[in-house]
Amino acid sequence: MPAETSPDTRATFVVVANRLPVDRAVDDDGNTTWRTSPGGLVTALEPVMRKHGGAWVGWHGAPDEVVEEFDHDGYHIVPVPLSKAEVEEYYEGFSNATLWPLYHDSVAFPEFHREWWDAYQQVNRRFAQLAADVAAEGATVWVQDYQLQLVPEMLRDLRPDLKIGFFLHIPFPPVELFLQLPWRRQILEGLLGADLVGFQTVGGARNFLQLVKTHTPLPVTKDSVEMPDGRHSIARAFPISIDTQGYRDLANTPEVIAHAEQLLDDLGHPEVIYLGVDRLDYTKGLRQKFRAFGELFESGELDPTKVAFIQVATPSRERVDEYRKLRDDIDLLVGRINSHTADLVRAPIVYRHASYSRATLAAMYRIADVMVVTPLRDGMNLVAKEYIACHADDDGALVLSEFAGAARELKQAYMVNPYDLNGLKQTLVKAGFDSPAEKRRRMKALRRQVGTHTIDRWADSFLTTLAQVPGPVH
Ligand code: ADP
Ligand code: G6P
Repeated sequence: MPAETSPDTRATFVVVANRLPVDRAVDDDGNTTWRTSPGGLVTALEPVMRKHGGAWVGWHGAPDEVVEEFDHDGYHIVPVPLSKAEVEEYYEGFSNATLWPLYHDSVAFPEFHREWWDAYQQVNRRFAQLAADVAAEGATVWVQDYQLQLVPEMLRDLRPDLKIGFFLHIPFPPVELFLQLPWRRQILEGLLGADLVGFQTVGGARNFLQLVKTHTPLPVTKDSVEMPDGRHSIARAFPISIDTQGYRDLANTPEVIAHAEQLLDDLGHPEVIYLGVDRLDYTKGLRQKFRAFGELFESGELDPTKVAFIQVATPSRERVDEYRKLRDDIDLLVGRINSHTADLVRAPIVYRHASYSRATLAAMYRIADVMVVTPLRDGMNLVAKEYIACHADDDGALVLSEFAGAARELKQAYMVNPYDLNGLKQTLVKAGFDSPAEKRRRMKALRRQVGTHTIDRWADSFLTTLAQVPGPVH
């Protein structure tokens, strides 16, 4: 167990995240299986851990189960147990029904419950303790995301010798929204336990520093907060990315190319294929996306016999009310659109509520003429970058919401405001039928951006900055 880990087996590099890279599940026959965990955090950090080695402290996705530590892909995995009540109050409750909607512009109503906050503190303390047990003297510990914002301060109390970084994968909200949080001071103090606090965008870092200035007595100079022990906590933007070459290589394997051909045959070689790939989350703008396609197919602006729209949506947080509601809404919406516009052979919308392997996604990215990414708010959106990496020719097109962090970097995408239904419809048609020269110009620039701003560069930039932050004055 971690507490008994001998000093020489402790790790000099530790990632702490709510999710482990793999999820434990029990199949219909009662066998235990491990599968890749959902979401962008795992997609981004997996290659970082494969390169750096070390330990990943996180939850294995099942309640009321204690799982032994194990090695995986060249690094060590330290599972954190969560009881059923903790999953309900810390994970589904405070993390995903309070913080998640609040940090995404309150596109769903955030709920505030004192018991959820208690559970959040309790679980954050457990993560901090396990990270403290596993980290070697002077190690670098990198805490991830909104579920663990109290860990940096808790960990510093336990282990002042550590270099502590924190990265927020989701947006950091505007000041007036953050101030609704009854526990706003504690969250700011929790984050300030880190030597370096990273955000997806400059705007997120600015919001955070503004709050520190106005709601703590701590002096702030530019992006640096002076702490009472003399150390500094720096807040800065580090836009995250993907293993671009890894995705490129995957998309060019004979298996993926063959699968892409097969998909085209199955779909009957439509003239234009639109694709959406999202977790089934109300922040992703799926309702708006389907409405836009529904109207386009119904009015004939898009010909349902020549154009296909494929949307795959990974099941996500299915016990949280807003997610259940979304699932039902989307099922209804898709059924209605297809029943109005389908010919007898093929429905214009192919919707699957399922997870796919990376290879299958790569095949889909290869055949998609237009990738449609329309979140109402998104920290970054890695799907947009995966598409650019996998779509080998310069004939693709990316429709991208201006409310995704990725819009700050992928400026040559076809930008949309997903709340503006008419604007969205126009841009979808334009992206599908624009001149080849215009598409090529845009895709070339996008490929250059994703080719140079890789996950390696992101991790190196964060970790180099972290190493340079001066420690406490003794
Ligand atoms: P988020 O982190 O909010 O889910 P991102 O777009 O940043 O959003 O990351 C989503 C990750 O999940 C991507 O790596 C994407 O490939 C993966 N993903 C999304 N939908 C599916 C799906 N249906 N099956 C498998 N993986 C998926
Ligand atoms: C986003 C969050 C991650 C989270 C992922 C999947 O990417 O930033 O922290 O792991 O969604 O969500 P889940 O609740 O299934 O972990």
